[in-house]
This record gives sequence, C-alpha cells and structure tokens, in this order.
Amino acid sequence: MEIIISQTYEQMSKSAAKVVAEVINQKPNAVLGLATGSTPLGLYKELIRMHKEEGLDFSHVTTFNLDEYVGLAADHPQSYHYFMWENLFKHINIPRENIHIPSGTARNYRAFCQWYEERIVQCGGIDLQVLGIGADGHIAFNEPGSSLGSRTRLKTLAEQTINDNARFFERKEDVPIYAITMGVGTILEAREIILLANGANKAEAVAAAIEGPVSSMITASALQMHPHVQIFLDEEAASKLKMRKYYDWIQEKKPGSPRS
Ligand code: GLP
Repeated sequence: MEIIISQTYEQMSKSAAKVVAEVINQKPNAVLGLATGSTPLGLYKELIRMHKEEGLDFSHVTTFNLDEYVGLAADHPQSYHYFMWENLFKHINIPRENIHIPSGTARNYRAFCQWYEERIVQCGGIDLQVLGIGADGHIAFNEPGSSLGSRTRLKTLAEQTINDNARFFERKEDVPIYAITMGVGTILEAREIILLANGANKAEAVAAAIEGPVSSMITASALQMHPHVQIFLDEEAASKLKMRKYYDWIQEKKPGSPRS
C-alpha cells in the first residue's frame, strides 16, 4: 500500500489523474472501475482537461461503475448514471457501449448482478479501480458488516451513509435505502486500485482503513490484502495517520530507490 499525501485537493486529484492516464496510455483498451461522490470530481476534471488539451484517448476504454441507487432511473439528477454522464462521460470520447453502470431499475436484481459480474470478466477484468471512501469506512456501498468476499449485489444503506448523502437530495426521505454495489471481493480482483480521500470528515475512516485491523466493519481495510494499492490523500484526510512521517519518507526516498 502506497500512501501519497498532497497539500491540496487539486494536487491530490492531479496525482491520481496521472495514474489513470498512465494506465490508459500503456493500454489504450484498459478497463477502468469508476466511483461517484464529490471526491473524484477533481480527478475527472483533470482527465477531461487531459483529453481536451493533451489528447488522452478514451475511444477504446471500457468502464464499470461501482454502484447505483435502487429506484433511480438513469435520467434522475441524483442517480449515479446522471452524475457520471455530467461529470465525465459527456466530456470525453468514450463510446456509449463501453460504459457500464449498475442499473437502479432492473426487474430482476439478482440476475442483473450476476450479469454485471460476468460482463466484467468478459471484458478482461478491471485494470484500474478508482475508489472513494465513506465516513464509515465503506468502499462503493459495502457498508460495515459486508463480507470481504462479497460480490455485486443489492445492499441496504447504513444510516450514516443516508445522512451523509442527504446533502445531494431535496429531503433526507428522498435518499434511497437500497443500492446495487460491486462487492469487496469484486473490487479486490482489480489489478490495480487507487483510493482518494479529502477533508477532515474522512480522517478517521482513512486511519482505520490503512492502519487498523482488516475488518468487515471498515470495508476499505480489505485493501490491505491487495498487492497494488495507492492511496491519495489531502492533508486533512491524512491528519489521523500515526505513521505519517514514514509515508512522507518513502515518497522522499522513492526517486533514488534501486530499480532492480
Ligand atoms: C458514496 C459512494 C462511494 C463514495 C462515498 C463517498 O457512498 N457509494 O463510492 O466513495 O459515497 O462520497 P464522497 O466522495 O461524496 O464523500
């Protein structure tokens, strides 16, 4: 696990965008796993800039989103479909048929979830998964208590998540109670993972995920089991890390480290 701490949200977003761009440049038909929420907005903004100004090409890229609210149609302004379209997809040259987002209006959720899992495999698996983290330590909508081996499924949201996400809805009662989410096990199969977190309200979850025990109570802690994870933080999100000095030391010494 590599911890990269930036002074500002903008710097954090740019560092993470470089990783995404590198994956695409090395493998133009890369499969990306994408996240929603306010955290990756800066990353998406930078990817759009790279596309427009530097020719970053998404024409062969395939994407799979982590999750979607149950009951919200794709054109609902609070749906993750709408979010992704507005904040990334409509600004880049990704073909529509390469985009996958769990359906919030499937008739048979069980069958849909199985199809989603199979589709990821058909497309060759996820090369790079982008993640945020919930204040309760969740990744995607894998709330506390989710099996660390879980797969794509319907999940009941925790009260804290409903409260946290209420800011995007007119009334708290409008926040859906259920979501379709990739499982922790699904996420861990990505070849490479980056997690982004900013702001003081994420500091505890971040510290628990990185330095606490691996536990289904903080599903982000499962990333400790993955061989290729980078965590991008701003100062506030990093403020509760006990090993902070060591993480900085590693970054400082990285350029001179033996290559082979
Ligand atoms: C939601 C999403 C997560 C996201 C989290 C944090 O619950 N399902 O994927 O990481 O919110 O959101 P934000 O980035 O807005 O803090």
